[in-house]
Amino acid sequence: MTLDEKLRLVFGFSDRALTDIVSVPDDIVPPDLKTYVVSHIVKGSAGFVPGVPRLGIPDQTQTDASIGVRNSFIPSTALPSSLATAASFDPEIPRAGGAMIGAEARATGHNTMLSGGVNLVREPRSGRNFEYAGEDPLLAGIMVGALINGIQSNHIVSTIKHFAINDQETERTSLDVTISAEAMRQSDLLAFELAIELGKPGSVMCSYNLINGRWACENDYLLNKVLKHDWGFKGFVMSDWGAIHSAAEAANDGLDEFTDFCCATDKSRFEPKILKAALASGTISQNRLDDMAERILWALFAKGAVDNPLKTGPIDYAADAAISQKAAEESLVLLKNDGNLLPLGRVKSIAVIGGNADKGVLAGGGSSDVTPVGGAILINKRTYLPSAPLEALKRELPRAKVAFDAGIDTASAAAVAARSEVAIVFVTQYDSEGYDGSLELQDNQDALVAAVAKANPKTIVVIESGGAVFMPWVSQVPAILEAFYPGIRGGAAIARILTGKDDPSGHLPVSFPASPGQLAHFDLPGLGLPNETPAHITYEEGAAIGYKWYDAKSYTPLFAFGHGLSYTQFGLSGLSNHLDGGALRVSFSIRNVGKRTGKGVAQVYVAPADWRTAGWEAPRRLGAFAKADLKPGQRKAIELTIDPRLLATYEAAGNNWHIRAGSYRLMLGEASDAQMQSVDVVLPDKVWSAATASN
Ligand code: BGC
Repeated sequence: MTLDEKLRLVFGFSDRALTDIVSVPDDIVPPDLKTYVVSHIVKGSAGFVPGVPRLGIPDQTQTDASIGVRNSFIPSTALPSSLATAASFDPEIPRAGGAMIGAEARATGHNTMLSGGVNLVREPRSGRNFEYAGEDPLLAGIMVGALINGIQSNHIVSTIKHFAINDQETERTSLDVTISAEAMRQSDLLAFELAIELGKPGSVMCSYNLINGRWACENDYLLNKVLKHDWGFKGFVMSDWGAIHSAAEAANDGLDEFTDFCCATDKSRFEPKILKAALASGTISQNRLDDMAERILWALFAKGAVDNPLKTGPIDYAADAAISQKAAEESLVLLKNDGNLLPLGRVKSIAVIGGNADKGVLAGGGSSDVTPVGGAILINKRTYLPSAPLEALKRELPRAKVAFDAGIDTASAAAVAARSEVAIVFVTQYDSEGYDGSLELQDNQDALVAAVAKANPKTIVVIESGGAVFMPWVSQVPAILEAFYPGIRGGAAIARILTGKDDPSGHLPVSFPASPGQLAHFDLPGLGLPNETPAHITYEEGAAIGYKWYDAKSYTPLFAFGHGLSYTQFGLSGLSNHLDGGALRVSFSIRNVGKRTGKGVAQVYVAPADWRTAGWEAPRRLGAFAKADLKPGQRKAIELTIDPRLLATYEAAGNNWHIRAGSYRLMLGEASDAQMQSVDVVLPDKVWSAATASN
């Protein structure tokens, strides 16, 4: 490859370049490159990196994101939010979803998806939690690994993001995060490590924030030492959109591809002219540039994008919507069901209230906000996907009289509820990239639920939210269904779960705090200040995120991690363990002891005899999980392996994982706060290098 060809591969354009690139001086982007970009870019997509036709190297056509192809000109099938999908506790769900959205990406001319958000839900208010897979590194790593695996089965590249510790949106481009290496490795980085091992993404997107004083995209520790050296990552690192602040430092600290160049006003430092000057002055070596190009080429070849050129084609949207609906049906979490109010059987009259349930289901905002098949319904600038729960409920309950009230006026909603046998209140909480939300429901929705519950004791609340919310009315309603953002067939899935056509089998991938006092950080640094104001946060809680924080503090959450009810009951029994060549294996069986077919989720937690002396961040960690689909009376034997990193602590001094000799307890239950059966095991001391790639 010539120097110019290599430089072409590392410099990406935003789709805004389509109109704005003409204003860019020719010495920054030469005229032939401008012409190429404008004639090859996919209109409305996220990014574009020109290929090298002379060598058969394809353009990189990049599209967001984890719930589907995002392009304002191309309709696509929206999956439930990634957080919802994580609630399925079944990696086959994100794998199937990934295969589906990856196929839509390919069919619409994209060979790179910016998909695989795996930042941990450290800050329950973060506006992007819905794009991630929860608070636990094992669950998040497995689910996101499976999503990437599905996407890349289409011979395209998937991009895990946002590397790393981009755990709040407030001042995301100027926040400096202080966190120890130990805490990172045992939390957010472990989620990335697992997802990368399982999903083998072609690329990693570094984030906007700083970590311990260094920008994420210019971070020798994260990019060179951890990702490329210790984990042996062979693919390339692309910047989040425009997230670089230098040329030579970024390149030397591990960035391989810059993104989002568009116009004359851009502050890009990665354009060919600047990189040539850096090569000439020796601030970037020829080897480094070759490595950057090689990594990009490796990803395109290894993931099949070179050998399987894009061919746009028709999409079976009905089949794809069915995949999304199945994902939603597996992901909705039944939080409460007093007196078995649900499923709704032969109900004569229902009041459906609020949440725009007559129009559709809410979706999250920002770069993952797809243009759905059937068209987005925009209400207060928020996207609702065209799958109205009201209509779906009428379909599932043809004999019931169904009345709708928009829920704007609490008195009128209460009156409608009082006249009906059952009331279903839909509440929504909008979250979006770029800002952090509140855990309190907005627009008087708490008062609405309270008023309806007072008018009708048989009130069911359905929540469409990015993540956790507070529920001051929790004890006033008998039934609560958490639907998160349930995707393009969300309304249908909600109706099928409420009416028992499907068994609810989602379990919470995040804890729901009971009050603001339970949050690890009361204040969000930088909140209310102009964008890009320098801000700082110290993650003193370290790796004690979510239920680990609650356990360490002895807090009782509103709803615990792993919680989720079913219409049937399961029995777990026969817990035992054995060491198999050093690997800790756990066996047990799960049986459907109820009267309906359903899916049980078994969760194994691991705990040292004394977590403080063992150096753990918290008393216990999720060690393994499994989901089983069982008919009444049916039983399944399950054997799971506990990943040794979940029994260890990371020791920065020697760059090692270390399991300390001693007694460990394995606990089996259906939620982190459920009754557990347990068995103890004595483990020998074990130390091994965290540089798995060199093992
Ligand atoms: C987001 C990324 C996204 C990119 C391209 C950025 O603002 O943080 O997640 O992939 O835009 O749209």
